[in-house]
Amino acid sequence: MFLCATLLILYSFMDSQSEALNVFGPEVPLVAVAGEDLVLPCFLKPSTSAVDMTVEWIKLDVEHSLVHLYNDHEDRNAKQAQPYRGRTSLFKEELQKGNASLKLSALRVSDEGRYKCLVEDESWYDDIIVNIIVEAQGSHPVITMESYDNSGGINLVCESRGWKPEPEVLWLDREGAALPAEATQIHRDTEGFSVKRRITVYDYSNSNKFYCRFRQIRHMMEAEVIINSKVFDAWKFAVGISVPACLTALGLIVTAAIFYKKVLPRQSVEREFAAMERVVEPQRRRIKHVLAEMKKFAVDVTLDPDTAHPKLILSADEKQVTCGDTEQDLPDTPQRFTSYYSVVGKQSFSSGRFYYEVQVRGKTDWTLGVVRENINRKRITLTPQTGFWTVDLWNENQYEALADPEVPLTLREKVEKVGVFVDYEEGLVSFYDVKSSSHIYSFTAQSFTEKLYPFFNPWYNVGGKNSAPLIISPVFNTE
Ligand SMILES: *[C@@H]1O[C@H](CO)[C@@H](O)[C@H](O)[C@H]1NC(C)=O
Repeated sequence: MFLCATLLILYSFMDSQSEALNVFGPEVPLVAVAGEDLVLPCFLKPSTSAVDMTVEWIKLDVEHSLVHLYNDHEDRNAKQAQPYRGRTSLFKEELQKGNASLKLSALRVSDEGRYKCLVEDESWYDDIIVNIIVEAQGSHPVITMESYDNSGGINLVCESRGWKPEPEVLWLDREGAALPAEATQIHRDTEGFSVKRRITVYDYSNSNKFYCRFRQIRHMMEAEVIINSKVFDAWKFAVGISVPACLTALGLIVTAAIFYKKVLPRQSVEREFAAMERVVEPQRRRIKHVLAEMKKFAVDVTLDPDTAHPKLILSADEKQVTCGDTEQDLPDTPQRFTSYYSVVGKQSFSSGRFYYEVQVRGKTDWTLGVVRENINRKRITLTPQTGFWTVDLWNENQYEALADPEVPLTLREKVEKVGVFVDYEEGLVSFYDVKSSSHIYSFTAQSFTEKLYPFFNPWYNVGGKNSAPLIISPVFNTE
């Protein structure tokens, strides 16, 4: 009788415990980004140690495959499905608190789906289902110049792989207006959507710039291609040259330039230089004097590491910058450039005049100038309208002022040191070649309302030739 009562009490105790104990998980699907690590939550309530229990994670749907098994105080993953090998773990410390959450590393698009978390001991079990959705931003779009079109246009195709969900693809002109293009081709595979869209473009102006934009709800990527008018004329000479492009404007401009070089008669360039030579000498003396005046407004500029793109390497004195091969692990703060290898100075200016010099010797590519404080540092458009007053060098010898539209600059010699002068009230940003005392370009009659910061982009090490740093140099008056 006594034994019976004891069993009864014991039984009702166990019963009440098993009624109360449940497994919980998230009620809504988890949305995560491919490449990241994700914790799939699963825990016991009320908090009860699961150390002595079995925890089993299973992927449902396609085939019921074992994702992770913990049993008899150990992980038992001999039968784990191949795609999950080495990518799963439980939080062993947390198990004592009844937390059986699973960590899944380096998320893949193919990980999307429903996962069952099952927890059991000899007398009890419960499970929940965790639904995960994986989004992925595709590869950098690549623009290929496929062929000349019989109608006098050029056939371009823009492609990118690994998107999820599928992106919208647009071809845009330089003003950002959508251009009529062929239907988007979409192909689904295990790691997302491969997407391509073709367009035939025509010679609209001197410098034809086209963008191809991939857009998702949360992500966007763009590639651009610049096609000089001469390329349209050259259809007779070259057919079917493939021009790979990359997200950075540079890669594209460079490739367009290779094309450009093919058709530009060399002699005409040399004649142009010779003609310039005759007018330049008296001018140079005058400019030398102007430069000496500007140097009186020399300021000490240092680079602001908190704004530097994670690939940039700054010297300890914060006067030099180059672009490294790998991204450093730095916080993605609002002031940090993340889409363009840029950094700004620590010093800002909101009145008066200032001048500084930057050594560009040995570089094949750079962008320098000033920017206003409130620019978009995550997506860059280099125009005065968007807050950038800059000039750049690309492809070793192509100089241009990034006005809207760009102004190609013909300089007599390779610039080794750039002088930047700003007169805030006048709305003037001028660039000088310090060594030859010649004027490079001026933005005039601009209206500044925000603080201005010196802006630097050393570009990546294009073809291994652009490793020289940009160096903010002390200003000497040589007059
Ligand atoms: C379970 O552990 C993971 C990893 O430490 C943690 O992120 C999660 O918040 C924990 N869940 C609960 C309910 O404590």
